[in-house]
Amino acid sequence: MNRSVFEGSNVIITGGLGFIGSNLARKLVELKANVMLLDSLIPEYGGNLFNIAGIEDSVRVNISDVRDEHSMRYLVQGQKYLFNLAGQTSHMDSMADPYTDLEINCRSQISILEACRKYNPDIKVIFASTRQIYGKPDSLPVSENHLLRRVDVNGINKIAGEWYRVLYNNVFGINGCSLRLTNTYGPRMRVKDARQTFLGIWIRLIAQGKPFEVWEGQQLRDFTYVDDAVDALLLAASCDQSNGQVLNLGGDSVVSLKELAELLVEINGSGEFTVQSYPADRKRIDIGDYYSDFSRIRATLGWEPRVSLREGLARSLEYYKEHLQHYV
Ligand SMILES: NC(=O)c1ccc[n+]([C@@H]2O[C@H](COP(=O)([O-])OP(=O)(O)OC[C@H]3O[C@@H](n4cnc5c(N)ncnc54)[C@H](O)[C@@H]3O)[C@@H](O)[C@H]2O)c1
Repeated sequence: MNRSVFEGSNVIITGGLGFIGSNLARKLVELKANVMLLDSLIPEYGGNLFNIAGIEDSVRVNISDVRDEHSMRYLVQGQKYLFNLAGQTSHMDSMADPYTDLEINCRSQISILEACRKYNPDIKVIFASTRQIYGKPDSLPVSENHLLRRVDVNGINKIAGEWYRVLYNNVFGINGCSLRLTNTYGPRMRVKDARQTFLGIWIRLIAQGKPFEVWEGQQLRDFTYVDDAVDALLLAASCDQSNGQVLNLGGDSVVSLKELAELLVEINGSGEFTVQSYPADRKRIDIGDYYSDFSRIRATLGWEPRVSLREGLARSLEYYKEHLQHYV
């Protein structure tokens, strides 16, 4: 990756106070970019001011909402890169309140791209999509050619957001791409509840010395450590080969959720979990097994995960043992 492209460049991150956005911001500060973070800090989502502890004087923070077209129109101006990470991420919340998910994950995506088209067509926009859009896989590993068979409202709106991104690249020449993230984890993820990821609540409970629940446990998953996800975002921004593409991320290994729970307990040196059946409302939108084929991004951008699951879990546990009070 040509990291020097970020030096002195203006970069805006929507969802910049969230889990992935704040880790990306840290890296960009290290690369000497001029970083602006836009975030609504809606309490149910993953935004947290503590996520920028230590870099708060090196970034600009704008507390606003991607649904506000007037703010977006102004904020995209003068930016070289836009990492578009703001999102409603809870699958269950999207079923309980489909309209909010529609507004944030679908409608706002058009208004962001429209703001770019009218006020800064030279910007490059990287969109954070999700493996959730594949739904229940027909076959494994899942490549980008797999049918999109989403099982929840969030998945449908993320598809729309992703394809607006591709369309504005292909038709209007607003450069950029969409990365389909799989389960991403690491320091600064939301651990207050399971809205962002079940792994968050597991890590919180184990750090508090409390038992956690594994539902069923046989489901297979892959996991990307957040630093690897950040590398993929930076690579995608810095390489022209990414333009117009949709690219899967993936993990270094495939584990069942029960194996994951056992690994977490082993790394922690103690801990307990119980295996329970799925709650009925979650079972309805369960996708079974998933792991991704990320050969396209490896071939296109040379990306692959570098941090092993064991190492990533150890780093995450260490972080939350030290900073849990800021996340509960
Ligand atoms: N973490 C994962 O495992 C994962 C997997 C697949 C895709 N993604 C995608 O990556 C992106 C970032 O996810 P994350 O895990 O960092 O979640 P996160 O909740 O920590 O970050 C999202 C941020 O967006 C902000 N936000 C939400 N709605 C907003 C709005 N209307 N206006 C401005 N800001 C708003 C939130 O306050 C939050 O800080 C999301 O788009 C998500 O769909 C994440």
